Amino acid sequence: MAEVTLSNVRKSYGAVDIIHGIDLGISDGEFVVLVGPSGCGKSTLLRMVAGLETISGGEVRIGPRVVNDLDPKDRDIAMVFQNYALYPHMTVATNMGFSLEHRGGSKAEIAERVKWAADILGLAPLLDRYPRQLSGGQRQRVAMGRAIVRNPQVFLFDEPLSNLDAKLRVVMRGEIKSLHQRLKTTTIYVTHDQVEAMTMADKIVVLNGGRVEQIGAPLELYDRPANQFVAGFIGSPSMNFLNGTITAEGFAAPGIVLPLPAAAQVHTGRKAVYGIRPEHFALDENGVPAEIILVEPMGSETQVTMKLGETLATGVFRERVSLSPGATIRVRPDLDNVHLFAADGGQRLN
Ligand SMILES: Nc1ncnc2c1ncn2[C@@H]1O[C@H](COP(=O)(O)OP(=O)(O)OP(=O)(O)O)[C@@H](O)[C@H]1O
Ligand SMILES: [Mg+2]
Repeated sequence: MAEVTLSNVRKSYGAVDIIHGIDLGISDGEFVVLVGPSGCGKSTLLRMVAGLETISGGEVRIGPRVVNDLDPKDRDIAMVFQNYALYPHMTVATNMGFSLEHRGGSKAEIAERVKWAADILGLAPLLDRYPRQLSGGQRQRVAMGRAIVRNPQVFLFDEPLSNLDAKLRVVMRGEIKSLHQRLKTTTIYVTHDQVEAMTMADKIVVLNGGRVEQIGAPLELYDRPANQFVAGFIGSPSMNFLNGTITAEGFAAPGIVLPLPAAAQVHTGRKAVYGIRPEHFALDENGVPAEIILVEPMGSETQVTMKLGETLATGVFRERVSLSPGATIRVRPDLDNVHLFAADGGQRLN
């Protein structure tokens, strides 16, 4: 196990800069998730840690060693990809032991390591099967088995679950997390799925356009996003945003004035973005009017699309709302959970 440190890491392809200088410290045993929209540089960054891409600038350390110029095989890492590509003509056991064989372990040692990994992953009864005789989840488990037999210092995962159906993804997500709790191996996990990031990470790194937007524990990012990008990216359904102006009477958005936390008064006169998550509206007869556009009962809660003045917003209520489109409800934003962002740049104001 080891810590991983990235200092001002950069990547360019020719004249095009893709990663613009990333600093990131990962403690020994930590589970860090890199998340961000497609093309933001997640895989590139992971592949630089793995040694599959050259590093254009800065430094990557694994443990005490700078690994910039080390071969992937000398970095003591194991990577699991989205396309885990098992060898079709090899059994589960051989697939899992292959990399050890490559390193010249004895047959007995390899068999013992494979059995250890198979027991952890629930693959023991399947060791003699071929990949075509396995389900998607079992194949994914074999791919993980291949990584853990080597007992590496760091695990790197690049969207390992995106080929699985939604239900299996949830199961495997739990399995990877409990595997980490058991082995405590430092892990960097890439996904564009913010739910995976929230549920699995000790620490999330939100990337956008090759830059870090925010680093923090999942709930820190959820409760106090540093900017509008993170606020909109983390959480589902997403945070609502209204454009307007902070005034002494409240937040003046097109067609409506919303209540503001008292501390916002220092920004009076400023153009801003009012952010509020769907679950932070309460039904309240003293609230602001909202015209119902769509009601979606989920059983445990009700999701309502509504118009706040001229802006569409989503509310999620524990109560059942049995009203038709066109009706007006009254909703009250929870002032402890109102987020204000600068209209230009989107940095957090409160
Ligand atoms: N070999 C290459 N040459 C030129 N540009 C590249 C190369 N590889 C990647 N890129 C560019 O670098 C950027 C980051 O790519 P990367 O694969 O790291 O994104 P990602 O965050 O993993 O996206 P996704 O979620 O779609 O997998 C993209 O704009 C991509 O087009
Ligand atoms: Mg990628």
